[in-house]
Amino acid sequence: MSGLLDVTTIKRDFPIFNRTIRDGQRLIYLDSGATSHKPKIVLDAERDFYENHNSAVHRGAHQLAEEATELFEEARLEVARFLNSDGSEIVFTKNATESLNLLAYSFSNSSKNSRFHLNPGDRIVVTEMEHHANLIPWQQLAARTGAELTWLPVTTDGRLDLSSIDSIINAKTKIVAITHQSNVLGTINPIKEIVAAARNVGALFILDACQSVPHFKVDVKDLDIDFLAFSGHKAVGPTGVGTLWGRAELLNEMEPFLTGGSMIESVTMSSATFAEAPQRFEAGVPNMAQAVGLGAAIRYLNGIGMENIHNHEVALTKYALDKLQSIPGLKIIGPTEMKNRGAVFSFTMENIHPHDLGQALDQNGIAVRTGHHCAWPLMRVLNVPATTRASLYFYNDYSDIDALISGIYEAKEFFTAPRTKERK
Ligand code: ALA
Repeated sequence: MSGLLDVTTIKRDFPIFNRTIRDGQRLIYLDSGATSHKPKIVLDAERDFYENHNSAVHRGAHQLAEEATELFEEARLEVARFLNSDGSEIVFTKNATESLNLLAYSFSNSSKNSRFHLNPGDRIVVTEMEHHANLIPWQQLAARTGAELTWLPVTTDGRLDLSSIDSIINAKTKIVAITHQSNVLGTINPIKEIVAAARNVGALFILDACQSVPHFKVDVKDLDIDFLAFSGHKAVGPTGVGTLWGRAELLNEMEPFLTGGSMIESVTMSSATFAEAPQRFEAGVPNMAQAVGLGAAIRYLNGIGMENIHNHEVALTKYALDKLQSIPGLKIIGPTEMKNRGAVFSFTMENIHPHDLGQALDQNGIAVRTGHHCAWPLMRVLNVPATTRASLYFYNDYSDIDALISGIYEAKEFFTAPRTKERK
């Protein structure tokens, strides 16, 4: 089995893998779709910021303020290069959820003649596979403006049904906001095709890249999108820092979302004018140490190589799909073929509730997520109340998948043992 990263060496970078779980067992972490672990280099970057440079960025005339600002802006450039963009287009937020809310609130703050203004009858298009972060802000924007929210449906095999794309993304459509990779199904969506449909009708295209940016190269120019959101904590970065990328000309035309210090150009007692992006969207003292930590995270990912990460995950995906499908009673909820699919596996097990299965796996040191995965409408469409989800990253290897498979078999035996037989 070639092409795999050296996971034993990689794991040494992540302090959490030094600990054991549930009475001395190895930690088998299969929940990176929820949040990833952090390499020491990221933790050190945050600590170094607080220990040696702590000061409020973009304020103050002293040396610490200068150093803090330099580190913060270096982190911005690191993120910009990672996405093939420019520093002026990177807004630091709290997380992807805040990035998407920033867009939705900025749009509803826009004046009547602005391109961002929505009127009753205008359309916002999402998909049935959005997680709540890329659904509820658009529901709320529709409710505030009278616009209509509609969506591209999902097929039973967990792909987007694009057969009616031109009638769904129609002349009334102002915004198309779509996930790059489903956090439940692992499906990687055909973004360029959907961007083309949005361009045809002059709609803005927003990419929710929470589950893609950490896992493979995402190039905003190549995708020809308008906005992108991702969270640092899913990409080996700290919690509390996310990114909104937007085309500079759009960001500079947009109304602010949060107002206050550092996002202004000039202020009187009765009014204010606003700075250019990205400062326009960074009111208040930002999450500085976290942004610096995100810069370190991106350097770490670049050091491993996004292509190597992707190839590693492709190999694991193939292995996991084969193994999982060989388990009697297990049903994968999502694509079962390799094409355009990431290393996220949701499944149900005959006669075992996903929560019970999650707890049984936890007894073996295996961390998975169970429930609706913040994508409740998708669960309804697929007619499953909940699933068990294993989501992988480059610090996982075949042995983690083997452990998952034997954990499932063990749970199956436990939960389906005849009632008369005493359960261990
Ligand atoms: N959206 C995150 C997940 O999929 C929290 O688990």
